Formats: sequence, structure tokens, C-alpha cells
Amino acid sequence: MKAVVIEQYGGKEQLVEKEIPVPEIKSDQVLVELHATSINPIDWKLREGYLKEMLDFEFPITLGWDAAGIVKEVGENVQKFKVGDRVFARPELSRFGTYAEYAAVDEHVLSHLPEEISYEQAAAVPLAGLTARQCLVDFAEIKEGEKVLLHAGSGGVGHYAIQIAKSFGAYTAATASGKNKDWVEQLGVDRFINYQEEDFAEVLNDFDIVLDTIGGEVQEKSYNVLKEGGRLVSIVQAPDENKAGELGIKAGFEWLEPDGEKLAQLANLMVKGEMVSKVGHRFPLTQEGLREAHQLSESHHATGKIVITIPS
Ligand SMILES: NC(=O)c1ccc[n+]([C@@H]2O[C@H](COP(=O)([O-])OP(=O)(O)OC[C@H]3O[C@@H](n4cnc5c(N)ncnc54)[C@H](OP(=O)(O)O)[C@@H]3O)[C@@H](O)[C@H]2O)c1
Repeated sequence: MKAVVIEQYGGKEQLVEKEIPVPEIKSDQVLVELHATSINPIDWKLREGYLKEMLDFEFPITLGWDAAGIVKEVGENVQKFKVGDRVFARPELSRFGTYAEYAAVDEHVLSHLPEEISYEQAAAVPLAGLTARQCLVDFAEIKEGEKVLLHAGSGGVGHYAIQIAKSFGAYTAATASGKNKDWVEQLGVDRFINYQEEDFAEVLNDFDIVLDTIGGEVQEKSYNVLKEGGRLVSIVQAPDENKAGELGIKAGFEWLEPDGEKLAQLANLMVKGEMVSKVGHRFPLTQEGLREAHQLSESHHATGKIVITIPS
């Protein structure tokens, strides 16, 4: 099958197109013929070698951890899926990722994909959408009427977080630059903050939840907008728990644990029209396509999600 792999760590030129064997499935896996995948910052962080202490994979490595496609084969212990089903998933992190025509995916991370949702819309969701959900629902235990600040509301995680928070009846504020104002407001944001013109920490206060997707000074200032009993959840840098304790805030770092049932809840939100994927950029599954996609993701200024289309 065709795949785009890296054979050593380095810049985007390490992404090369290769013929590699179709993965063999284990008894609790399905083989998915991929129709689309998407880019997440972990892809280029791993490509550069920044994550080699934590994810020590052998080369060649097929990057990419978002899958949308059709089940082609099922392992003998698989119960809920059959050949021909439309599915999507954030596969477990391994060196056999989704910049490829096929991927082996564990049943427990897989969700059925309703007919109403296209493969492109679906492929954008799993990693970013589940991360947003885990932070707001599992960690912060979001409730109706709470005030929630989403940093980088125009990013992959942020734009899903806005919509998930709105589905709980929250009041939402989101940061991004002015070029993203219109579409981010259309997602239902109550207070858009152009971070190039306004300092969120000066204009917001008494918030219940902050989702930190940036770290550094943004995280530091985020304590100021939270009220006692508030929650600060970061996906980029562990917050200072002593400081949080002094302020009476619950603070923590979350790392995504994929789960097919939680992904099915996001599919339901999409079917109800309460969540959409903003696909800002599309590239084909080619060496050049992936290199351009990585360059864009590394700029930190992609619009919504970058999707990779995979013709069958
Ligand atoms: N822990 C985990 O499990 C986990 C899971 C997913 C992601 N992450 C991490 O979370 C981070 C965000 O991921 P992502 O996929 O959402 O990234 P992304 O889609 O690449 O984010 C890009 C967006 O960030 C916005 N942005 C850049 N600088 C900003 C600033 N100073 N203030 C507000 N917005 C800003 C940009 O908007 P403008 O162009 O308007 O500036 C752009 O739309 C990454 O570091 C990623 O590795 C961690």
C-alpha cells in the first residue's frame, strides 16, 4: 500500500512516499481502508524527534493518528464492527499511523460513522475533538451556565472545545487573531478576543474553566481569570499545582486517552448539528501534500483542521 513515512527524525523533507505492506490485524483489531486522515501538532513534534523519550518507535514510522474509512477485515474477537461499516478513530499511538491507505485499529477506540458525516469531516475529529471533550467533560466536569475560556479557539482542539462547551449550555470566550473572528463567532462564541489587540486577562474574570492550548505566559495569566473553585486544564504544559492550590483552583495536564464510545458521543453531536469540523485546508496523501501540511501546522496558524484526503 501507499504510505508517507519517515526513516529518521528531522525536518519536513524526511516525509517520503513508500510502498509498505498492508498492516496485519490482531484478534481485537479491524483493518480500515482509509479515506481521510488529519494533521495534528503531535505529527511534526514526533517527526522532529521531540517526543523520542516518550514514544520510542522503530523506523520507518508512519505518522498520523486520525482515521476515517471503511472496515475491510475484522479480527476474530471483534464484536461490534463488520466488513463494510463506515468508521472513524484515533488509533493507539504506534509506528503504524494513518498517512497510509490502510490502518489496523483496536476495536475499543473505534466508532461507527453515521452516513450524514463525510470522511473529511470525520477524519478531522478524533484526536482534537476527543482531547477537547476529555478536558471539558472528564477533567473540568463542565456544567450548564458555566463560563469557559478556550485559548486558540480557531485551532483544531479549540474549535471543537467551543462547540462542546456550547452543547452543555456554557458561556464561552475564545482567543484567536482577527482573521478568524467571523467563523469562530459562527460556532457560537459569546466573547471573541483578538489576542493581538486585547489582553484576555484584563477583560475576563470570574471564569469557571480555562482550556490552555498555548502554555507559557498564556497559562500564567489564565489563573487571573478563574474564580475560586475554577478549573485550569492544559494540554501543553503541566500547571503549577501549588499556585492552583493557593488560589483554590483545580489544575492539571491532560493527555488524550482515546475511547470509541466517547467518539460516538461526538458523532451524535455532529448528527444533531451541534458540532462541525472546520476544515480549513486539504492536501492529498503524497510526499508533497504531507510536507506542505506539516509546514502549515508548524506555523501555529492553521485555520481549524488540516485534512489529508486518500483516494480509494
Ligand atoms: N495533551 C494532548 O493530548 C494534546 C492533544 C491535542 C493537542 N495537543 C497540543 O495542543 C496544542 C494545540 O493543538 P491544536 O491541534 O489545537 O493546534 P493548532 O490547530 O495547530 O492551533 C492553531 C491555532 O492556534 C491559534 N493561535 C496561535 N497562537 C495563538 C495565541 N497566542 N493565542 C490564541 N490563539 C493562537 C492560531 O490562530 P491565529 O492564526 O488566529 O493566531 C491557529 O488557528 C498543540 O501544542 C498540540 O500539540 C495536546
